[in-house]
Amino acid sequence: MNGSRNATRSGSRPPENGASPLGRYWRLIALSLGAAGVFAVLFYLWGRELFPGGAGRWGEAFPFVGAVALTLAVALFLSEWFGFAGREVRKVRLAARDFLFLCSLALLLFFAAKAVIDLIAEIPSLGRGVPTRVYAYLIPLPAFAMVVRVLINSETSILFTVAASVLSAAAAAGSWPALLFLLLSGTAGAARARRVPDRYRMLMAGVQTAPVCALAAAALEFSFHGGGGVLWAGVFGAVNGLLSGPIALAVMPVAESAFGYASDIRLMELSGTGHPLLSRLMMETPGTFHHSVVVGTLAEAGALATGANPVLCRVAALYHDIGKLGKAQYFSENQAGAVNVHDAMSPGLSRAVILSHVKEGVRMAEEYRLGDRITEIIAQHHGTSLLYCFLDKARPLIQDRKASEEMFRYPGPKPKSREAAIIMLADAAEAAVRSLDRPTPQEVDETVIGIVNRIYLDGQLNECDLMLRDLHAVGRAISQVLAAVAHARVDYPEAGKG
Ligand SMILES: [Fe+2]
Ligand SMILES: [Fe+2]
Repeated sequence: MNGSRNATRSGSRPPENGASPLGRYWRLIALSLGAAGVFAVLFYLWGRELFPGGAGRWGEAFPFVGAVALTLAVALFLSEWFGFAGREVRKVRLAARDFLFLCSLALLLFFAAKAVIDLIAEIPSLGRGVPTRVYAYLIPLPAFAMVVRVLINSETSILFTVAASVLSAAAAAGSWPALLFLLLSGTAGAARARRVPDRYRMLMAGVQTAPVCALAAAALEFSFHGGGGVLWAGVFGAVNGLLSGPIALAVMPVAESAFGYASDIRLMELSGTGHPLLSRLMMETPGTFHHSVVVGTLAEAGALATGANPVLCRVAALYHDIGKLGKAQYFSENQAGAVNVHDAMSPGLSRAVILSHVKEGVRMAEEYRLGDRITEIIAQHHGTSLLYCFLDKARPLIQDRKASEEMFRYPGPKPKSREAAIIMLADAAEAAVRSLDRPTPQEVDETVIGIVNRIYLDGQLNECDLMLRDLHAVGRAISQVLAAVAHARVDYPEAGKG
């Protein structure tokens, strides 16, 4: 599908996810300034030492000169690395926020590496009999690689591991064993953080990483330096692995609130009906709540069939129509046989009310800090599709040129991710099948195929990387679940009538 080719490019992703662009820019500026302040302090502590060339005439006068040069070199390396990867690797789509986050993590790790080697070696009771080089096996790259995989994706975590390994090994006096250990331990950490829906799984990922790190450290130490520090290397490697889970758990909430990410752990927290928005949805708009739960089940099935994130699909679907709160009666799922209020309204007014639920949903998602991933899906769940239900009513106006068909389209943007596309398909399919009276499995199947085809031909999936085979798999998964739901709606005999 052309969508796969048109995947949004990293550097050029427009700020059109529906979230307020101004608020995002201010947050990015605040983050940049904060990061610059932290790094300035770190450079002041270690800059000249890391860049001895700066300790010449200029270095004596301004210790920061060496540090600034080092920062530029590191920033250049990272921007080239992530910039190139983001442009050319389909699944590495780095927005400015991701780039800033990865650079911050890599630089933090760079200085953490320096701190581990310099500071721990200074502790007298520890330093005795332990070669300084062995401290490199404590550099916490596995934890950082796990964080990147959980918050962004596996492809980006591999690229991050390579870039951060090179930088951290440079901080560890360019040692080959350190470089190889970092590459291996970072990959092992990221590989074990596949699906992490709770803290226990994160801790277990660290526990499973520990033996790999211990073995790698001991083997590398023995290969390059003989038997002297093998035991310490093994112990430090194991400690590094064991600590990776707790360190990742400590870093993630900070990254989530500072950069707007939503990990699966956070998503699971949001899926509880105790959340004020879901409670309101349940009490005030029960029809929309039921619709959202069914869409979540459908989207989760679609995600499992295509390798997309099922937790994100299910939780984002629960929130996708929160913008309908306060306007329940205008949406069919809440009317349940009551008078259709749109009968007494002009098509233009109906259009305005219906379209507004997307914008209102984005506003509420930002107010309740649901995270960028859910906010983006809310903004994209109708793409630029047509409001078919009011188009017929508006036909006379369109023929009189008092309105145009384009006015009856949602403002967009179109889905940018597989998860957003799956929710769009599930949402439309659920609404279409709900309107059928006692459908057979075949009717359900035909309706879902019709909806999928219509959305695809309308170009709504042009900007996401859902392949054609994924589209078939999603359609199949959705119609299977919908057929099961429709089949489960059996009529019970009325009480007393036998
Ligand atoms: Fe909607
Ligand atoms: Fe919906």
